[in-house]
Amino acid sequence: MSGGDHNPMAKASRIDPEPVVRWFTDAGRDLPWRRSRDPWLILVSELMLQQTQVARVAERLPRFLTRFPTVTACADAPSGDVIDEWKGLGYNRRAVNLHRSATIIRDEHGGAIPNELPALLALPGIGPYTARAVLAFAYELDVAVVDTNIARVLARSGGEPLTARAAQQRADDLVPEGRGWIWNQAIMEVGALCCRPKPLCDDCPVALRCLWQQNGRPDPDPAVGSAGVSTKQSRFEGSDRQGRGRLVDALRAGVVADDQLEIVMGWPHDRPRAERVAMSLLEDGLAELTAHGSWSLPT
Ligand code: ADE
Repeated sequence: MSGGDHNPMAKASRIDPEPVVRWFTDAGRDLPWRRSRDPWLILVSELMLQQTQVARVAERLPRFLTRFPTVTACADAPSGDVIDEWKGLGYNRRAVNLHRSATIIRDEHGGAIPNELPALLALPGIGPYTARAVLAFAYELDVAVVDTNIARVLARSGGEPLTARAAQQRADDLVPEGRGWIWNQAIMEVGALCCRPKPLCDDCPVALRCLWQQNGRPDPDPAVGSAGVSTKQSRFEGSDRQGRGRLVDALRAGVVADDQLEIVMGWPHDRPRAERVAMSLLEDGLAELTAHGSWSLPT
């Protein structure tokens, strides 16, 4: 090979973990899930963090854990109780998946959250990100987590958009031995605080090894269109998702008579749409029909 080590571009693309970990020790936020290694706390917080802001999760996590202190407590409760407690967090399907996962963990894993990738990936609602987050943040294993923040850091520092596989590969190569917990927290924090969609490179501990920054941050931004980097959510106003959210919110307050569906969902002149979308909630385990033909949370 002709001198990969002497090519400044190639060198710049490998992140040095030392300054990143040092920066995190100094500048990282004190967040509730960083003070714990309880696998249940980590699993719940990571599921919440998938689509809900850090500040809101930090506020709501304690309440959730008071109501469902263990995986078994969650599994033993009706799924409707978990949906109820998910109020205000959005994307209610996550609550159903969490309850289903808790049930499987109780019934098939003796109530212990798995510490192996295949068993975690087999659980509903747990994808490659959440599974590895549990392994790294609860069990302190040397696996590489790739969330939207980390994917942005990897794409920009490497100077090119990455496929999901390439991002995971690059992340795997970076984990310093025996320091999976702090490394993943640190690189995620870089993405959250420095390598934001609008980057703040002045304080970034990766800047000296970032090809995109070194080249003057040319357009297009390598993070845009990279696998794993989230894009804008589709419009909520007027969407089916809005009607679904309204009905689940109403069910949290009590049963809803069938002839009120279209009112509650905000489509008073579109009964067929209300019925169709309400049926999708039934299928997803977010609603039930009572013996009297009213709608309720699952019991
Ligand atoms: N978002 C998802 N997981 C996170 C974590 N562990 N710390 C901060 N933000 C996160």
